[in-house]
Amino acid sequence: MSDEVAIAFDHVSKEYHVDSAIPGGVKELVLHLPSHLRRLREREPLRVLNDVSFEIRRGQCVSFIGRNGAGKSTTLGLIAGVIRPSSGTVVARGRICPLLELGAGFHHELSGRDNIVLNGVLLGMTRAEVRERMDQIIAFSELGRLIDQPLRTYSSGMIARLGFSVAVHLEPDILLVDEALSVGDEAFQEKCVDRMKAFMEDDVTMVYVSHALNTVEEISDRVFLLDQGHLIAQGAPHEVVEEYHQRLGVTSHAAGPKDAKSEPQPATKSQAA
Ligand SMILES: Nc1ncnc2c1ncn2[C@@H]1O[C@H](COP(=O)(O)OP(=O)(O)OP(=O)(O)O)[C@@H](O)[C@H]1O
Ligand SMILES: [Mg+2]
Repeated sequence: MSDEVAIAFDHVSKEYHVDSAIPGGVKELVLHLPSHLRRLREREPLRVLNDVSFEIRRGQCVSFIGRNGAGKSTTLGLIAGVIRPSSGTVVARGRICPLLELGAGFHHELSGRDNIVLNGVLLGMTRAEVRERMDQIIAFSELGRLIDQPLRTYSSGMIARLGFSVAVHLEPDILLVDEALSVGDEAFQEKCVDRMKAFMEDDVTMVYVSHALNTVEEISDRVFLLDQGHLIAQGAPHEVVEEYHQRLGVTSHAAGPKDAKSEPQPATKSQAA
């Protein structure tokens, strides 16, 4: 792992303006225009990330954990550049491979093979590069003869396999994985975890989002805990997962393997502004 910073968030916030319809329609709007304008002006936007700052070094594997709606996928979207921050700055260096949505960028009428080309090109490979790696990608996916069937005949787990297989042959600098593995069966998940570990040896920076806390503990160098858009803890995997369990009110759980790779770091709390 190098000292080079691969990803940096500096006081990043993300807000959404959630507009609701005006009850009573246009007539009501015209009759009471000033009060409606005031209401729209004063309404608080929905703040889904709140003043989040962190740095991730090249070659690190970090995970974001937290309840549903905590802001994990939003964070990945910001790193990938598909979501823009409302304030603050996001820096992400190198070729990013986002595995954000299951089957995003796939075409359901095309075969698995054609989708490999489509997806590979969308993610920045040249056609020649995709062709070169085609056999490896198909082998990794373990889809066998199904690879020439249209995607609409695949199960969601098979689509996930295909997506992951393309992604891991991209040679990315940064790999973003959002729950994409959770639909694969156990054997495939294990293979993906092994591949992710190999990536880390190759200095690929990985950001993983999951509710599978055992895997989080197994693969991460550091873990970040988000709560209602606030980054409330970061540090050694076991400690942060433990803190999350305490907050959830889960008293006992099957502890995952303890992080053996890195020096144990204390879970440091960042300010919850
Ligand atoms: N386009 C949008 N417009 C309005 N609100 C949004 C939008 N996208 C996300 N949100 C809100 O932002 C908050 C954070 O969402 P996000 O998807 O980042 O959560 P998450 O931590 O990934 O949750 P999960 O564990 O359920 O995947 C949620 O309250 C969600 O409703
Ligand atoms: Mg999410």
